[in-house]
Amino acid sequence: SVNLKGRSFLTLKDFKPDEISHILWVSADLKHRIKHQGEYLPLLQGKSIAMIFEKRSTRTRISTETGFSLLGGHPCFLTPQDIHLGINESTKDTARVLSGLTDLVLARLYHPIQILADLLTLNEHYGSLKGLTVAWIGDGNNILHSLMMSLPKLGVNLRIATPKGYEPDATITWEAQHLFKQFGTDMQMFSEPLEAAQGSNVLVTDTWVSMGQEEDKKKRIKDFQGYQITMQTASVAASDWTFLHCLPRKSEEVNDEVFYSPRSLVFTEAENRKWTIMGLMVCILTDYRPQIPQLKL
Ligand code: CP
Repeated sequence: SVNLKGRSFLTLKDFKPDEISHILWVSADLKHRIKHQGEYLPLLQGKSIAMIFEKRSTRTRISTETGFSLLGGHPCFLTPQDIHLGINESTKDTARVLSGLTDLVLARLYHPIQILADLLTLNEHYGSLKGLTVAWIGDGNNILHSLMMSLPKLGVNLRIATPKGYEPDATITWEAQHLFKQFGTDMQMFSEPLEAAQGSNVLVTDTWVSMGQEEDKKKRIKDFQGYQITMQTASVAASDWTFLHCLPRKSEEVNDEVFYSPRSLVFTEAENRKWTIMGLMVCILTDYRPQIPQLKL
């Protein structure tokens, strides 16, 4: 009964549990039919997407561009050097023009599409999501914000450790506290990484120095001392622990032993960026119904 055709996907806050589940189901279905069954599904034939990027990107760009093409559509990759956006033309006017010329616009601001890939990866690995505990160890950044807005809706608990001064946004934390309570799940905040890792199934981190924060690099690296994920961190986690990272990765935040260990799901997570953005685009642009049985989440 879920129908997402015509919806915008700006933040996971706007999406109900059955809607997130539906996107993951369509994503898993496309992965199965295209990757494993070798089917050609031109579900987006005749459609186009404007992909607007202001910063470098490997995963977001390539997963969207190749995914849209694989489904028979035409992706247009656009940087500020390619279009008039905000220079010779107002953002408002460019938006109206693109609305008339393309079917979909992708603009990288928040990062909810990363979380779809993380959820699909965990569901593939554990067989379901409900009851899992995720430990976020690192910066209180946009990825953490998206996790806070989505995990409770899928029955996943969250333990957060951030250095002092790098906590998640206070308003989002307040909203998340209500969401976790509403869905009967648990969110706890700590200042020690080992406390967050204790008993958790999934250890997650991200870069300590995001694009645009290079000037603060020295200070940030000093402030994050003790937050590197190592086998010592994993030693207090649940026995079935795994590791996620949205990439690109630096060795400061996770050492090689964990990052390249068999418990690390990072490269499947990166591949799932493609199947989940494809699933999302199909949900927004078509009436497609998946053929595989509904996912148990
Ligand atoms: N994780 C992620 O968004 O990677 P890119 O910056 O390479 O797109």
